[in-house]
Amino acid sequence: MFDTMTITKAAGALCAALLVFLLGGWAAEGLYNVDQHHDEDHVSGYRVEIAEDSGEPAEAEPEVPFEEVFASADAGAGERLWRQCSSCHALNAGQNGVGPYLVGVVGRQIASADGFDYSDTLAGMSDQTWTPENISHFIENPRTWAPGTAMSYPGMSDIEDRANLIAYLETQQ
Ligand code: HEC
Repeated sequence: MFDTMTITKAAGALCAALLVFLLGGWAAEGLYNVDQHHDEDHVSGYRVEIAEDSGEPAEAEPEVPFEEVFASADAGAGERLWRQCSSCHALNAGQNGVGPYLVGVVGRQIASADGFDYSDTLAGMSDQTWTPENISHFIENPRTWAPGTAMSYPGMSDIEDRANLIAYLETQQ
C-alpha cells in the first residue's frame, strides 16, 4: 500500500516535472521565435539601408578636390609625416642633401634651390611653381607626375596625408 502510494507520488511528481519541462521548452521556443522575427525584421531593414547608402558615396567618392581637403588640412599631423622626407631633404635654406632644401618650397619656383643639381625633368619644369596642388601630384607618385625625376620616393597615396604634410611645409618659410 505504502509502496504503491510512494510510486504514485513519484510518478505524479515526474509527470509534473515533465509538464513543466515541456511548457518551459515551449515557452522558450516561443521567445526564441519572437527574437528571431525581430532579428529578421532588423536584418532586412538594415539591408535596405545599406543598399540605399552604398549607392551614394560610391558616386560621390572619386573626386574630392584637393583644395577642399587642403582647406581643412592639419599641419600638426603633417609634421609627423615629414619623417618620410627628412632623410633626403632639409628645412634649412641652402642645405642640400640627396634632395634640395625644402624650406619655403610652397609657392617656390620649381627647381630653384641654390646649388642643387636637378634632373633634366624638374629643370625643364622651372617655368612652373610648387603650388600645394603640384606638390600633391608630385609626392603622390613622383615618377608618374614627373617622369625621369631623380626623386626615388615611392609615393604617398593618401590625399589627407599629402594635404597635412603640405600644410606643414607651408609653415616652414
Ligand atoms: C630618397 C630621397 C628622397 C625622399 C625620401 C624624398 N625626396 Fe623629394 N627629392 C629628392 C630628390 C633627389 C629631388 C630632386 C629631384 C629631381 O631633380 O628630379 C627631390 C625633389 C623634391 C621636390 C622639388 C623641389 C624643388 O626645388 O623643385 C619636392 C617638392 C620634394 N622633393 C618633396 C618631397 C617630399 C614632400 C618628400 C616626403 C614625402 C620627399 N620629397 C621625399 C629626393 C627625395
